[in-house]
Order: sequence, then C-alpha cells, then structure tokens
Amino acid sequence: MNFILLIFALVLFGCVIFFTWTLIGLIRSRVPYVPTSKNIARAMIELADLKSGQMIYDLGCGDGKILFMAEKKLRVYSNKQPHSHFIGYELIRAVVWLGRLKAWLRNSSVELRCADFFQVDLRDADVIFCYLFAEVMDQIYEKKWSELKPGAKLISHAFPIAGLKPEKVVKVGKTKVYVYVK
Ligand SMILES: C[S@@+](CC[C@H](N)C(=O)[O-])C[C@H]1O[C@@H](n2cnc3c(N)ncnc32)[C@H](O)[C@@H]1O
Repeated sequence: MNFILLIFALVLFGCVIFFTWTLIGLIRSRVPYVPTSKNIARAMIELADLKSGQMIYDLGCGDGKILFMAEKKLRVYSNKQPHSHFIGYELIRAVVWLGRLKAWLRNSSVELRCADFFQVDLRDADVIFCYLFAEVMDQIYEKKWSELKPGAKLISHAFPIAGLKPEKVVKVGKTKVYVYVK
C-alpha cells in the first residue's frame, strides 16, 4: 500500500513539475502554438532552396513540423541521410517533448531544444524559418539580424519585418510568405 502511494506521489509530482514548466513556457513565449499548415510549410521549404550540409533553424518550432518536412525533402533529393542540421527552439516544454517523440518515432535527426531563441547563437544559420508575430519579427531584426552571415535566408510565415525589404513575397492561399536574405 505504501509503495503504491509512493508511486502515485511521484507521478503526481512529475505532472506538477511538467505542467508548471509548460505554463512558464506559455507565459514567456507571448506567441501561441499554432502549427503552420502543410501547404504553407511546403511553400516555405521550396522558397528556402535547401541544400545538403546547411544549418537549418526554426525559431519557435512548435513540435518541429516544418523541420521534419524539410528533412524529408532533403532525404528525397539526396536519397541518403542528409548531412544538414535541423534545429528548432521552442519555449513550451510539452510541445518540445511531443516533437522529440515524433523525431524518435521517425528516426529523424531533427533536434528540438527547449530554449529562448533570443539567447542562442545563430551565426552559422543558413536558413531560418519563423511563424511568430510582427513585433517579434521586429525584435529578431533588432537583436539577431546583425549576427547572421551573408547569404543567410530568413523565411517568415505571415509576418514581415518592418523596415527591411524582403527579397521575395509569395502569396500562399490567403497568407503571405516573406523571404529575407542577409
Ligand atoms: C505560431 S507557433 C509556430 C510553430 C512552428 N514554427 C510552425 O510553424 O508550425 C510559434 C511558436 O513560437 C514559440 N516561441 C515564441 N517565442 C519564443 C522564444 N522567444 N523562444 C522559443 N520559442 C518561442 C511559441 O511557444 C510557439 O509555439
């Protein structure tokens, strides 16, 4: 009986910690978790013109949907495991774990990190995917744009960067995708 109570208490404790982390992530992120639809993700990947060996990021990656699709596309092209790196940053821990489970089930190399993307080094990025808010895009421009290397591509679903001219704007259904090149 004591043993069962102990297990129950441990599970309950684990759940409380997990939901507290998730709640903290939700409060910190200010952007709700809304996955990009498949056709828009496909268009974003097309616009990225991915190549093997690239460092590919999704800032605020959710469960990594865009990165999984990008990895699959490169696999199809090169017909072997790509040497590219697919890295997603996400604040909501529960969503990160869901993505990690998907990566494990798919035997994928996509790496999901629970971290604030404003705190990470993006100097090696070749391609960056975003689906955030306009004011967050402006903050990315203020805080991260200068650190990107020449030629790095930033592809934003729906939200442009104020004051920066996009290289391309493509309409996909009712929304737009913005491509910026450093
Ligand atoms: C609209 S969702 C997009 C999810 C995914 N990129 C997609 O397109 O399917 C935006 C995500 O960004 C995350 N996010 C917002 N600010 C963040 C930050 N500073 N660091 C990491 N993740 C962040 C939110 O938690 C949310 O899950």
